[in-house]
Amino acid sequence: MDFAEQVKSSVDIVKTIGEYVRLKKAGAGPRYTGLCPFHSEKTPSFSVHGGHQFYYCFGCNAKGDVFNFVMSIEGLEFFDALKLLAERNGIPLPPRGAPATRDSELRSALAEMHQAAAALYAENLRSPQGEEARRYLLGRGVSESEWDEFGLGLSEPGGQQLFRRLDRRGYPPEFLEQSGLLRRRAEGGFYDYFRGRLMFPIHSESGQVIGFGGRALRPDDQPKYLNSPETPIYRKSAVLYNLHRARNAIRKQDRAVLVEGYMDVIGVWAAGVHEVVASCGTALTSQQVRSLHRHSERIVVNFDPDTAGANAAERSLQLLLDEHMRVRVLSLEGGLDPDEYVRQSGSDAYRSRLDGAATYFHWLFDRARARFDMHSVEGRLEGWKFVLPVIQRIPDRIERIAVATDAADYLGVDRVYVLDQFRKSGSAAQAPARPAPASVPSLERLLLAALIASPEARAEGLPLLRQIPAVQSFTTRPVFEALFALAAQDGEFRFTALEARLDDAARALLAAVCLADEVSGGDAAYSQAMECIRKLEQTNSNMKLSALKNQIKEMTRNGDLDGALRITGELNRLQRTLGAPAAHEPDSSVVN
Ligand code: UTP
Ligand code: MN
Repeated sequence: MDFAEQVKSSVDIVKTIGEYVRLKKAGAGPRYTGLCPFHSEKTPSFSVHGGHQFYYCFGCNAKGDVFNFVMSIEGLEFFDALKLLAERNGIPLPPRGAPATRDSELRSALAEMHQAAAALYAENLRSPQGEEARRYLLGRGVSESEWDEFGLGLSEPGGQQLFRRLDRRGYPPEFLEQSGLLRRRAEGGFYDYFRGRLMFPIHSESGQVIGFGGRALRPDDQPKYLNSPETPIYRKSAVLYNLHRARNAIRKQDRAVLVEGYMDVIGVWAAGVHEVVASCGTALTSQQVRSLHRHSERIVVNFDPDTAGANAAERSLQLLLDEHMRVRVLSLEGGLDPDEYVRQSGSDAYRSRLDGAATYFHWLFDRARARFDMHSVEGRLEGWKFVLPVIQRIPDRIERIAVATDAADYLGVDRVYVLDQFRKSGSAAQAPARPAPASVPSLERLLLAALIASPEARAEGLPLLRQIPAVQSFTTRPVFEALFALAAQDGEFRFTALEARLDDAARALLAAVCLADEVSGGDAAYSQAMECIRKLEQTNSNMKLSALKNQIKEMTRNGDLDGALRITGELNRLQRTLGAPAAHEPDSSVVN
């Protein structure tokens, strides 16, 4: 067994995927479903099969084994996914694994460099030179336990410390340059990118340090935050600050809290709200939203949409709605950010504000009421026009109408007018069409599932099936052919070996069959298979019989009585073997 197979066989795909996607057990078999992490959806079409160790999405056709999953979700090459899974499951890597590609070598070097940098920065914060930074943090109410929890640190002002440490480890210069942690001098050599800043490590969802945010310690240092550039291990559009720490809490609380800044995350966390994340100084992306949606569909957005980033905030909210999140909005009075609010009013006050946050639509209606004059008819209609475009984007028709009437009541606009106008304004944005799932006729589905489940069914059934022409016109014919081919080889049947013989389309069919969950193991599977085969044989004989009968009719009509007699003999023999009553001699009524 090679190393990849060893890892695959000791890693449970349900557990691994379950760390990224909320899975629910479905049906009797080892089958789980959840919302697909690879496309946006409201009802689960993503399935994981614990027995055969694969996943399949009926919505977007994403599929594969545990490696494919980790590669797609973490954006890794095969080799790095293998390494990650091995490390996470305590499987020691072989001393000299397969020769790493240059890309994977670079990525693991970058990961090491970031780990080393985080350790160095944390050391600095505790050292004598960290005095000012420590005072700054304590002055802002960030205690030592949060320094540890968030791995806070300090970069040295001179600009050579990190370079020296990394250089000593002998990385090639192009790796140093691509790390984003150092910059190359025009006259040669490197200097540290972060100098004299309070350092916030940014982690991937699996907990690896992949970048930093560096806050200025003095008001005149610009910019206030310096962030790592994009590197091969840090794609800003894919990362949310604190997600690796927050994800368990997001599931447990069944909600995420989205804030704007690093300091907000720390403040909210310290208030006991652990399901908190932030986007790191960039506009929210759909990829980030999906990484939340995998854990919960409920979110409280806690940033002030009326401040500087008003447009960005509006876009974020719309994006969240488009990705089917159930959105609440918390606007704190006095324009305070969450971190300031917690410090001023305390954890309990903040938590109750969060719990009482208005749904997105009610928040929006409130804004309309504040913006327009609700004492005049014109003002109320203006308010209605303000909320209408957002309501029209609600994909579900029933929900759309419900929100529209709610808005009408809230804004004091006549319901009848609203609904009428609403109907006239035409259909709202349609939910993206879902590709039809692979569909397999039920007999094929039952038969295949049983053959896969039972060795006896294969041993006895496959030779019979080879003789049945109908198999040639099955939707799942390629799967049957692969089964025939495997049976012709000696050795143990393995699901992966079957899959390996199939192209993408056939694999999708196979996945659909296995996920239909229509077979129990052992004896039941055997009798299910034999039952299907009997039906196929029956159909096959019936077809033969009626072909012979037609032939006889044809011959007697053409006056070929000898021929008709010969075929009648054949028909009788066939019927005898099938245990059916014998046919009569061709009678005179047919002749004339
Ligand atoms: P804020 O200015 O609100 O920062 O920017 P903050 O996190 O509340 O920090 P304090 O409380 O002022 O110390 C919010 C987020 O925007 C990004 C950072 O991610 C920051 O946490 N940002 C802000 C930048 O990337 N660069 C900047 O210059 C400013
Ligand atoms: Mn702040």
